[in-house]
Amino acid sequence: MQQKVRIENLSNSNIEDLIYVCSSKRLDDPIHQQGIKLKKQWLCTMLEKYGPCAKIAFFNEKPVAQILYYPEEADITKPYTRKNVLIISCIYNPTIEAQKKGIGTKLLHSLIQDAKHRKTCLGNKPCNFLVARAFNTGEFFPMPEFYKKNGFIPTPEGDMLYLPIEGNYESLPSIGSYEPLPEDKNKAIIFYGSSCQFGYPFAKKIEKLIKEVAPHIKIEIINEWEKPQESIKRKKSWLIVNAKPIHTFFMQTEKFKEEIRQAIG
Ligand SMILES: CC(C)(COP(=O)(O)OP(=O)(O)OC[C@H]1O[C@@H](n2cnc3c(N)ncnc32)[C@H](O)[C@@H]1OP(=O)(O)O)[C@@H](O)C(=O)NCCC(=O)NCCS
Repeated sequence: MQQKVRIENLSNSNIEDLIYVCSSKRLDDPIHQQGIKLKKQWLCTMLEKYGPCAKIAFFNEKPVAQILYYPEEADITKPYTRKNVLIISCIYNPTIEAQKKGIGTKLLHSLIQDAKHRKTCLGNKPCNFLVARAFNTGEFFPMPEFYKKNGFIPTPEGDMLYLPIEGNYESLPSIGSYEPLPEDKNKAIIFYGSSCQFGYPFAKKIEKLIKEVAPHIKIEIINEWEKPQESIKRKKSWLIVNAKPIHTFFMQTEKFKEEIRQAIG
């Protein structure tokens, strides 16, 4: 059979396909469903305000991979943003039979071409550069390697990768680090973003782990796209326990719980 790859920009009629790419194995999980609901709201807001902020790859008519991006200026969760900059939030091809067939590369190159032709969600403004959030999930081909293969270079700050399009790289001012707030004492505050459907389920997992260590501590779960000021005033920390920012990733369960224990004292 001839293998056919097609790329579509996000629209109101293919939102379900975009969701399917990342969530096909979790559609029956009610907590994941809540993450999906929040992500759909986020996508609809972005679509309405800026136009397509994702591309979906279809392989033999099945949605198999996606790339998600938005103007940095649309990111209300950031205290500082740059004009004419696109952030690539993630790229993902979790479909084994569609991997290593050039699909991830096609998605990225389709976005780069749009940026060169001023046809992205920046409107018809120039795109100075693309910035990729290149975190390593340990799954498949890591994003940092993938972006570097495609010409992206580390930012001077070293925390992201970028690709110049029509301009030179510009740094953002530093947001500084968390200073203990009196209202953060004796409670846990978990932040998540609704731009990813895994944000809310991960927040619920973190809540469960905290309860295992401290069953009676008050826990607040905040969507940073709904209450950006709460996140900004805590310098974008993803978890604060007893007025201390937690650094251990929650999937390193024992180390994570130990850090929670120490924060509670
Ligand atoms: C990065 C990713 C999108 C690539 O998807 P893909 O469709 O398989 O990519 P391509 O077929 O275009 O391959 C691009 C290059 O990477 C290489 N590559 C892809 N998978 C690879 C692997 N598992 N090991 C080594 N190289 C790999 C390909 O050989 C190709 O190299 P070439 O350009 O020299 O030929 C995919 O591996 C992925 O989803 N990785 C996880 C990313 C992630 O964590 N996303 C966040 C989710 S929240």
